[in-house]
Amino acid sequence: MDFALRASRLDSLLLRHQQWWRFNVYAGAAATHLDNHNTLRDYLHSLSHADIHDLQGDDQRLLTALRPYFEPATELAELINITPAGPQLSPQEPPKGIPGRKWQQINAFIAAQANMHRPVLEWCAGKGYLGEAISQHYQLPVTALEIDPHLVAAGNARAKGDLPLRQIIRCDVLTDDVHQQLTPTQHLVALHACGGLHQRLLRIAVAHNSPQISLAPCCYHRFNGSYTTLSQQLKNSALHISSSDLRTAVRQTNTARQGETSARRTLQAWHLGLRELLPLLGADKTTNLPSLPQHWSKRSFAEFVQVQLDHKNIRHALPSGLADFEQAGWQQLHRAEAVDLLRMAFRRALELRCVLDSLLFLEEHAYQCTLNAFCSPTLSPRNLLIQAKKRQ
Ligand SMILES: C[S@@+](CC[C@H](N)C(=O)[O-])C[C@H]1O[C@@H](n2cnc3c(N)ncnc32)[C@H](O)[C@@H]1O
Repeated sequence: MDFALRASRLDSLLLRHQQWWRFNVYAGAAATHLDNHNTLRDYLHSLSHADIHDLQGDDQRLLTALRPYFEPATELAELINITPAGPQLSPQEPPKGIPGRKWQQINAFIAAQANMHRPVLEWCAGKGYLGEAISQHYQLPVTALEIDPHLVAAGNARAKGDLPLRQIIRCDVLTDDVHQQLTPTQHLVALHACGGLHQRLLRIAVAHNSPQISLAPCCYHRFNGSYTTLSQQLKNSALHISSSDLRTAVRQTNTARQGETSARRTLQAWHLGLRELLPLLGADKTTNLPSLPQHWSKRSFAEFVQVQLDHKNIRHALPSGLADFEQAGWQQLHRAEAVDLLRMAFRRALELRCVLDSLLFLEEHAYQCTLNAFCSPTLSPRNLLIQAKKRQ
């Protein structure tokens, strides 16, 4: 299926089913959302915590499980199916200082390249680990751009022996300074450049007629005041994507640390439990409650409740039987996570719509493009790789 057709089918599927992916179950209406969908609701309510956890981390498994109960699942599964890139490089120990997971992503990124023979410009490079690996693997000169002076200094300390073949330059790619770093022969590469930063890369590449691009995008909502559609095809769409929609696109926690996930869930359950308690304390269930930092999850439910009440100036003694409210919060969280699987079912589709927007923009500017999954989602859920070559 070509990119234009895939984008158009995804766009109309997302448009038709907005009620499922624009719905925030944690805002409290999970119970009524499925009123006219009894078999779907029964299925979701039958899931254990372990089932939910498994399905959250695997888009295709989730869609297969939902297929008997949820009409859009079949088409979603077809449209989000992306071919994995070819064979991986044989595993090697990471060079000193490069974290193991980042090193595996870099190796997968390099193995997925169709070819590399041009001088490389690395975009938003951090300490330039990707450029370091490319320059060693292909013996190519690499210039890397990074805004953070500490990362630039640390990266250049690593690159010392490789000068002038490799250097990291402090540059804010969102300013005009970036233009002076571009030459007509460069291959632009970026691993996990966030939303507005990779859109900038694409615009700059088009403006400079850059001959080759390899881009693994991430965090579509970041560095984007509001999401700007790049391609003419999707500019004509009736679907307008907001920053909160884009957060849904990257909502996948299978690489989050277990401690973080557990702290987040505890605070969510307590939050829901407190909402049940509020009417007993003379406050409205929908009172706006602040979110607390993760370390609060180490305290008790009673302490959590007390600090929230103090914050809201609600002066009322805590009732007995607080444990029941805590328990109710955990039950509600379980239900909400089950129903939220429906939003998760559209996660990859939303991500892919952003990526297809980039691909269509490049095609509209005479690039020939491919799209692959360069690594497994367990290594990084942001595993889509755009490769583009300017047509002669
Ligand atoms: C998600 S990290 C990716 C780093 C690296 N490519 C990697 O995969 O490890 C994004 C990087 O973009 C850099 N960055 C953010 N804004 C930037 C800007 N305006 N210009 C250049 N770099 C920027 C950040 O400092 C950070 O190092």
